[in-house]
Amino acid sequence: MNRQEEWMRLALTLAQSAEGYTSPNPMVGAVIVKEGRLVGSGAHLRAGTAHAEVHALAMAGAEAEGSTLYVTLEPCSHHGRTPPCTDAVIKAKVAKVVIAVQDNDERVSGSGIERLRQAGIEVEVGLLATESRQLNEAYFHHRRTGRPLVTLKTAMTLDGKIATSSGDSKWISNEESRAAVHLMRHRMDAIMVGIGTVLTDRPQLTARLPQGGKNPVRIIVDSKLQIPLDTPVADTSVAETWVYCTATADPRKRTQLQERGVKVFTCGEGVQVDLPKLMEHLGEHNILSVLVEGGGTLNGSLLMEDVIDRVVTFIAPKLVGGANSLSPIGGEGISNMDDAVTISNIRVQSLADDVMISGEVCKRKGSDSRCLQD
Ligand SMILES: NC(=O)c1ccc[n+]([C@@H]2O[C@H](COP(=O)([O-])OP(=O)(O)OC[C@H]3O[C@@H](n4cnc5c(N)ncnc54)[C@H](OP(=O)(O)O)[C@@H]3O)[C@@H](O)[C@H]2O)c1
Ligand SMILES: [Zn+2]
Repeated sequence: MNRQEEWMRLALTLAQSAEGYTSPNPMVGAVIVKEGRLVGSGAHLRAGTAHAEVHALAMAGAEAEGSTLYVTLEPCSHHGRTPPCTDAVIKAKVAKVVIAVQDNDERVSGSGIERLRQAGIEVEVGLLATESRQLNEAYFHHRRTGRPLVTLKTAMTLDGKIATSSGDSKWISNEESRAAVHLMRHRMDAIMVGIGTVLTDRPQLTARLPQGGKNPVRIIVDSKLQIPLDTPVADTSVAETWVYCTATADPRKRTQLQERGVKVFTCGEGVQVDLPKLMEHLGEHNILSVLVEGGGTLNGSLLMEDVIDRVVTFIAPKLVGGANSLSPIGGEGISNMDDAVTISNIRVQSLADDVMISGEVCKRKGSDSRCLQD
């Protein structure tokens, strides 16, 4: 690893330290180096607060003059909740800026780089670009599509069941796997389940980490507003809850939920919630990432509607059998194997005696396309 790469890796580590807290902004880290010495560093810690470059420049003070700034994302050039970072970099007389990746937000998208170059600053783009894009995968996806990055998470037995024939599912996976899920929840903007899971499991859907953490918005897909008022997810003192229903839902129940702080949205004209529309609505409301936690009925519709982007499956070394036991993805399913959704960039990880397999959806339902990344 050369020196430049080391500095950018440090900037990436700083960026990642705020994981779970910056949305709808990206995670960004910045490092300022002068004559081979670190003179400033910073990370964007929370939306609405100072950007990484500003923290690093404040630390560097007069040392910023003639220095090199390493930053994991193109500095912003527009007035958002904070003034543009490009102006601060120019004012501090930084000599060179090394950027990992260009921002794809239409308000930036190359204009930050342009502005720095116009001010006579040397700019390099592309150092550890893949790592930086990966770190902010949901952010880039949201800016490109307008929708959140949707990850389908399931926990199943070795014989492919997510609950026994009686509906019992506590617990399939081991403690390590469940801790990994709590970390995933902390990183996500939202967590989604169907009303079936709320009625059967009475889940809390919070991120319970030993060191604390951030709770995602809880999204419940519930056409008829069957959600009980006394179920844990209806308690909005711990986390936000958004319920999506249809026009057939009882208006009194809607009011009762709203009185408890639950947000209720009508979504679609059909008998059930329109899932692609729901995803668009989430994107419009600054939800960049969603962790779907079932159950099989909701998962089945999400598969058929083609809105799943990533998959994380925990497999536990248990067998429960039963023709009526539930499997991770229900519904009609796909009839021809040729039309199957395929997953690429597979990662396999052991969590004690559970196995976690994750990957990205690369070939969509029924499409002929090969697995080319966009
Ligand atoms: N091991 C795991 O990973 C895991 C995870 C979660 C759940 N589970 C288990 O799964 C079981 C619950 O699963 P489930 O399949 O009965 O329920 P579910 O998928 O949680 O909820 C399904 C319900 O969502 C509502 N819905 C609204 N719009 C929909 C749409 N467009 N598409 C699909 N559903 C829509 C439907 O009821 P309405 O139309 O009336 O609204 C539907 O019956 C429980 O036994 C639970 O323990 C296991
Ligand atoms: Zn900025």
